[in-house]
Amino acid sequence: MSIPDKDQKLPLPNYERLCFLKNIITNPNIIVGDYTYYDDFEDCSNFEKNVKYHFDFIGDKLIIGKFCMIASDVVFIMNGANHLSSGVTAYPFAIFGGDWAKAMQDTSYPSKGDTIVGNDVWIGHHVTIMPGITIGDGAIIATNATVTKDVAPYTVVGGNPAQLIKKRFSDEQIVKLLELRWWNWDIEKITQNLPLLVKGDLDLLFR
Ligand SMILES: CC(C)(COP(=O)(O)OP(=O)(O)OC[C@H]1O[C@@H](n2cnc3c(N)ncnc32)[C@H](O)[C@@H]1OP(=O)(O)O)[C@@H](O)C(=O)NCCC(=O)NCCS
Repeated sequence: MSIPDKDQKLPLPNYERLCFLKNIITNPNIIVGDYTYYDDFEDCSNFEKNVKYHFDFIGDKLIIGKFCMIASDVVFIMNGANHLSSGVTAYPFAIFGGDWAKAMQDTSYPSKGDTIVGNDVWIGHHVTIMPGITIGDGAIIATNATVTKDVAPYTVVGGNPAQLIKKRFSDEQIVKLLELRWWNWDIEKITQNLPLLVKGDLDLLFR
């Protein structure tokens, strides 16, 4: 059996714009599963530049599962982007010091927690994902979407703010797919079952 190596940086010969993402990440607060790939129009080592406002002192994480497909210009906005918007002004006086230094006393910048992308998620070109979002397994995010709310597994969402376009399968089938978790199978089993996985015949898959 000949199986592509999950530990390769650049799995496509003579094509340096697509990488297996986990192998190019250097930031410990970005965690990526096997075989998830990122394609960049210029240079796939750009990925971390697309994770914006991601500061070590905040410590929020971007966690991406296995077998995800991430297109060029996908942007993850992290919690460092958040100003306090409940006051009269959102201006961050405190960061400039002097007599402004204590302006944030007894308050803190809002945090919406980690951003979590499930497994087998396809994120289209130029999508923006806001802080603290969870995207379920098998979801598809349409080109140019801005994701402001969690995305249910095996749904397709699009627009700004992203809204449900359709469910990929029936509710019953989605429950079964989430039990199956094919992405956690041994890679040999995945390889043997590719014809079933890439076609939509779920009856055969669940047999
Ligand atoms: C989301 C997507 C997968 C849907 O494809 P599809 O299943 O063939 O669906 P259709 O083209 O029939 O569109 C279904 C509906 O979604 C809408 N839609 C499609 N793309 C959309 C988008 N980017 N934003 C908002 N709505 C979109 C269509 O207008 C249609 O709406 P309707 O049901 O009201 O008529 C596809 O449009 C898409 O965005 N693919 C991502 C492509 C990409 O960015 N690839 C990057 C390289 S991997």
